[in-house]
Amino acid sequence: MHVLLATSELNPYSKTGGLADMVSALSRALAGSNLQVSVITPLYRGMAQAHPAIEATSWRLAIPLGDGLVEGRFHCQKLSPNLTFWFVEQAGFFDRPGIYTEANRDYADNAARFIFLSRAALILARHLPNPPTVLHCHDWQTGMIPILARHAQWHAGWAQPPQTVFTIHNLAFQGSFPAASWGLTGLPSDWLHLESALHFERVNFLKAGLTQAQAITTVSPNYAREILTPEYGCGLDGLLLKRYNDLSGILNGVDYEEWNSASDPALPSGFSAHDLSGKAMCKAALQRELGLPEDAEVPLFANISRLTDQKGSALILQTIRALIDAGESFQFALLGSGERALENAFGDLAQRFPNQVAARIGFDPALSHRIEAGADFYLMPSRFEPCGLNQLYSLRYGAIPIVRATGGLQDSVIDPRDNAAQATGIKFTTYSAAALQKAVLKALALWKEPAWLQHIRHNGMTADFSWEKQAAEYVSLYESVCRE
Ligand code: ADP
Ligand code: GLC
Repeated sequence: MHVLLATSELNPYSKTGGLADMVSALSRALAGSNLQVSVITPLYRGMAQAHPAIEATSWRLAIPLGDGLVEGRFHCQKLSPNLTFWFVEQAGFFDRPGIYTEANRDYADNAARFIFLSRAALILARHLPNPPTVLHCHDWQTGMIPILARHAQWHAGWAQPPQTVFTIHNLAFQGSFPAASWGLTGLPSDWLHLESALHFERVNFLKAGLTQAQAITTVSPNYAREILTPEYGCGLDGLLLKRYNDLSGILNGVDYEEWNSASDPALPSGFSAHDLSGKAMCKAALQRELGLPEDAEVPLFANISRLTDQKGSALILQTIRALIDAGESFQFALLGSGERALENAFGDLAQRFPNQVAARIGFDPALSHRIEAGADFYLMPSRFEPCGLNQLYSLRYGAIPIVRATGGLQDSVIDPRDNAAQATGIKFTTYSAAALQKAVLKALALWKEPAWLQHIRHNGMTADFSWEKQAAEYVSLYESVCRE
């Protein structure tokens, strides 16, 4: 079987969040299980220079988009005999400072940019010498692929397009554009209706994927249930209920080659569940790097994320302030970027309390590894969380996760109240600063019980979230859509 994955982000070439990690790790795991795997993604600014193994090919594209013809070119990197990454060059669309936004504003032509990517994915699928049997689309940016494939089958003589699978990484981002942008797709105007992409009189790319793909998945079993409710369904719960039989939740895994605490090149010292001395060195080095007092006795909490409501950033801010006011002894390190007001608020807090709080505003993958390694606890009070990867990285790196019991956080962390023997973290239910604060107070109490702390940390560090098992679930799904 040959699977083509289409994505707008791919680690380590481009990344704004977990989508990049997931598609990269899934493609490698699938290739490891002997499938033929290709991935298609844009060639963004600086990628070819940073990754000299990416080679320009002579395969050029000319894609009609609205009234114009947009040219592009495929680049390619063969990672192994059965894993190939394809990069689409289109300087006007992708050679820009940002991936989706600049100065916190969406690019005005995002509809055109990602229709172009989707059309390029279909050209690749149609003309590769060994055409894919399954085309696996990820998030709204590739949501138009299934309907474009169907049109090519019915009206452009493509006898056997691949079966399509659509994965929801985040239902809150839907790619909603004015109805006029339908013209960019080249699809007949009567193909835009409530059973395809039309949603509140706009073109909704995510809805197009959800209505047209053969199978739908999301990135945890719990989020797959949650999105059937109005609270989490972002206006698409009714549609998802209709497609209930085609919807499944498969928890993301971790790329343990990238997240290997024993051999991580970003760390000053390696460590493992059986020998934590290196972790103590990582903590001391992190405290020095962030300008916090170097102190092994004080618990270090951390958070690395997009600063938004989804991630509960405001709850973290309120909780840290309240605990400082209450005179609690702890440190907190933040790495993140996002909403300006939150960036400023964390920056102010760090300035006012330099002995307790460090805030790094920006995007820094190497620092994110050092923070996971140096931290004792990791805060993840998400309002919703389709899967979440940082709690999984935290488990492996011995930073005990404190999570809100939602989405994939519910599926991947075990609270002592549910199972003391296998506990890996601390969970709370209500999305509020008070509930988070109570959970952090539990962590502070745990810090004073070294045997308990070590038990929970050890369980987390030895828990197995490797991709092999999860990739096998995708393989069965691909096989089942191919039988249809
Ligand atoms: P989401 O995709 O919703 O942002 P995930 O937990 O799935 O959440 O994945 C986020 C990924 O992005 C993780 O790999 C995390 O370490 C990384 N990340 C988020 N913010 C930053 C940052 N400021 N610097 C470096 N890495 C970051
Ligand atoms: C999304 C979700 C996150 C998930 C990631 C990778 O960005 O917000 O929960 O882990 O995709 O699937």
